[in-house]
Amino acid sequence: MKKVSESIFVCANCGNEFSKWSGQCSACHEWNSLKEIKSLKSKNLNSKKRRGQETEIKNLGKIQSTPNPSFDKEGRYQNIFSTEIKEFDRVLGKGIVRGQVILFAGEPGIGKSTLLTQLIGKIGGLYVAAEETAEQIALRVERLGLDKNKFDILETNVVEEIEEIIERTNNVFKIVVVDSIQMVSCAESSGTPGSLAQIRESTFRLVEMAKKSGVAIFIVGHVTKEGDIAGPKMLEHMVDTVLYFEGEKDGELRILRVNKNRFGPTDEVGVFKMEEKGLREISSEEVSLIDSKMPQIGSTISVVMEGSRPLLVEIQALVTESFSQIPKRIFSGIDYNRGQLLVAVAQKVLSIPLYKEDVFVAVSGGIKISDPGVDLAVIGAIYSSYKDKIIMGEGDHKGSPVLIGEVSLLGKVRKVRMAERREREIKSLGMEMMKIENIGELKKV
Ligand code: TYD
Ligand code: MG
Repeated sequence: MKKVSESIFVCANCGNEFSKWSGQCSACHEWNSLKEIKSLKSKNLNSKKRRGQETEIKNLGKIQSTPNPSFDKEGRYQNIFSTEIKEFDRVLGKGIVRGQVILFAGEPGIGKSTLLTQLIGKIGGLYVAAEETAEQIALRVERLGLDKNKFDILETNVVEEIEEIIERTNNVFKIVVVDSIQMVSCAESSGTPGSLAQIRESTFRLVEMAKKSGVAIFIVGHVTKEGDIAGPKMLEHMVDTVLYFEGEKDGELRILRVNKNRFGPTDEVGVFKMEEKGLREISSEEVSLIDSKMPQIGSTISVVMEGSRPLLVEIQALVTESFSQIPKRIFSGIDYNRGQLLVAVAQKVLSIPLYKEDVFVAVSGGIKISDPGVDLAVIGAIYSSYKDKIIMGEGDHKGSPVLIGEVSLLGKVRKVRMAERREREIKSLGMEMMKIENIGELKKV
């Protein structure tokens, strides 16, 4: 078959593809983000038709939802298999599906290689080392106290070699980990390793390989602090599942989040702690992102829902007199615009002149919160810091004040999703929620 070389344009911001260049991406409206890619195999890779196959119509009644379902001796369904790491399984749905391609993204140093090494340590597999040497991996495996025999290592950064090995070892490996895609290149394609063209081409080939052979492939992708590396964004469209591994590098806590999943839910998270001997799973009961056990000025406690599990978080605020024309607003762990809005609501409803103050808000444990149930706790922490006093409820609160609720523009506190579940969590820890219907009531406590 003749190789077709054609140009396409990929948006470095959102990963959408276009046949023509333009100054602005019509999908995400980013300016100057389209990059030209000379794609070698794009013609036949985009087409589902395989060589030598006749075009045919299939009746859905004759189609089984997974290719050749088979059961093992214990009657377990073989097309989905467990990672043998509970938190990992929950995030994926039930486990790994045959032929699934999973993008495993996260900042450098966050622990991607560590977790995937632990995964192979449990279920065995092929580790494609494109970044490290086999010796370095051996060192990590030893450090983690894992069984070296579970590991097959392929030291390469050429995608054709990975293809060849997968083809040759047909069905020997359940999973293949490619660490990392930024280092892998395709000999037939132009561009340096890590370039858009190379990442795209290499991923296309891995996806094709996974679908053909049934092996599940984990593709490791680094993202920067801003999450703006083009590679992983573009890859999201190509794979079945996108997992993000997050956390504060200095902190111990790591959250495994699922962003897209063709085979399972997208709202579950897994929680781990990075320790001396690798990542340890953290159960619901153990998760507490609370720094201060005693009530403190500028600190409140809240419960956010991550999928079906409640997480106890501490919100810390620091409000200090501003000496700059435009006061500082710094939010870590909560959305900037949401933070701005909460500051404005607090200023208006609580009648406090925050326009003269610098406001810093942080979530302990370094997790990112998108749950609006944390609104009230943010406002409570800001108010407490501004007033320089501890917020205290009427009852006997053990420890810090617990505030849960979404706050409206008028300062009304709305009930949150899964409110009962959150309250139960608080009760089980011997704490009590403060009942507040309007943020104006904070003045009284
Ligand atoms: P790594 O998995 O190499 O990160 P990534 O692949 O995402 O770039 O993890 C790097 C960090 O994890 C490194 O700073 C050391 C730390 N670490 C531990 O704390 N304990 C361990 O057992 C291991 C293997 C790593
Ligand atoms: Mg790594």
